[in-house]
Amino acid sequence: MTVLSTRKFIKFIFRKIHLRNKMKVIPLDTEGKIQMPVIGLGTWRAKPEEVQNAVLAALENGYKHIDTAFNYNNEDAIGEALQRFYASGKGKREDLFITTKLPHVGNRPSEAEKFLKMSMEKLQVSYLDLYLIHMPFSFFYNGSDYTPLQNEDGSFQLDTNNDIVGTWKVLEEQVKKGTIKAIGLSNFNAEQIQRIYDAAEIKPSVLQIEVHAYCQQRELTELCKKLNITVTAYSPLGSPGANNHFSSKYNYSLDNFPDILGHPVVKEISENHGKSTGQVLLRHHLQHGITVIPKSSNSERIKQNIDVFDFELSEEEMEKLDSLDKGEEGRIFDFKFFKGAENHPEYPFKNRL
Ligand SMILES: NC(=O)c1ccc[n+]([C@@H]2O[C@H](COP(=O)([O-])OP(=O)(O)OC[C@H]3O[C@@H](n4cnc5c(N)ncnc54)[C@H](OP(=O)(O)O)[C@@H]3O)[C@@H](O)[C@H]2O)c1
Repeated sequence: MTVLSTRKFIKFIFRKIHLRNKMKVIPLDTEGKIQMPVIGLGTWRAKPEEVQNAVLAALENGYKHIDTAFNYNNEDAIGEALQRFYASGKGKREDLFITTKLPHVGNRPSEAEKFLKMSMEKLQVSYLDLYLIHMPFSFFYNGSDYTPLQNEDGSFQLDTNNDIVGTWKVLEEQVKKGTIKAIGLSNFNAEQIQRIYDAAEIKPSVLQIEVHAYCQQRELTELCKKLNITVTAYSPLGSPGANNHFSSKYNYSLDNFPDILGHPVVKEISENHGKSTGQVLLRHHLQHGITVIPKSSNSERIKQNIDVFDFELSEEEMEKLDSLDKGEEGRIFDFKFFKGAENHPEYPFKNRL
């Protein structure tokens, strides 16, 4: 090896290590005590039996961050997987970052603590790293199984008196008690984020929203940058399979459901790097400083989705991916599959009305 190529090689290795170290976690507080891994395992639609294997496969492959929700009905199974992980001696609770969410049915000041405690019990944790208000609107629920109550025409029974600032205050108390390390929002619009931010003693740390190549949410991500809120992209791969779920569960479907993983521009860039289209899509968000929580129950894809620290998209490639944005047209989740949700005063997507 010549001196020049040795230098080049060292530079290459150094760059790889630098990229790896630079990008793996993001601090959520000014002292850097709360570090959120920039990639987490998504678990929506992962059934209890499959989610256990997925979580264990993820933890085996270097994931530290698991994203779930009361609504996903898999917190029990995730709790079991975590117990198996600790028992294996491969890691402790403190090594992990666990996120769950206050459901629409529990989104009111009088019940937020109860739902938080139920989630923690299922997950078998004594604290949560991050707790998000899942969505700003709320429904009344069936007392026996916490499913939303529906009217005869199938529409959901709206709790129009919910008070999102009041709910936020309850979560702040839980942070003070040490039950939760960080709190945040999901599916809130700019006005709602600003309303919480202005009233908050403990500011939101994270906003989890739909972000993928077709729905890049520039306005909200700019606002979050200004307010020092970390953005997490849900459905970063375009959520293949979501439409089948919407139609089988809610008899609701979107026309022209996107296939972002198959887009020719994404394919071309993936060929340039010898990476999969999924890895390119995740890398695009990470390079914009947006954290990602891709869901997979397949061990190969779980491995692949975190193996994104050894390549970098060029400026030109970033621009090409940026230009795939369709804005509001690209949105998959407008929550209209919850029939009547759009009539709630806190329904966040006013431009869909
Ligand atoms: N806050 C909210 O309201 C909200 C809403 C939606 C989602 N989320 C969270 O965000 C997570 C991710 O979103 P999502 O589940 O909607 O969609 P996603 O992560 O964009 O896509 C998941 C789908 O892509 C497949 N997949 C995973 N990796 C792949 C790869 N490398 N190549 C090709 N296909 C791949 C998965 O199938 P396999 O399992 O077969 O690999 C699964 O069907 C959720 O799981 C959930 O934790 C939050």
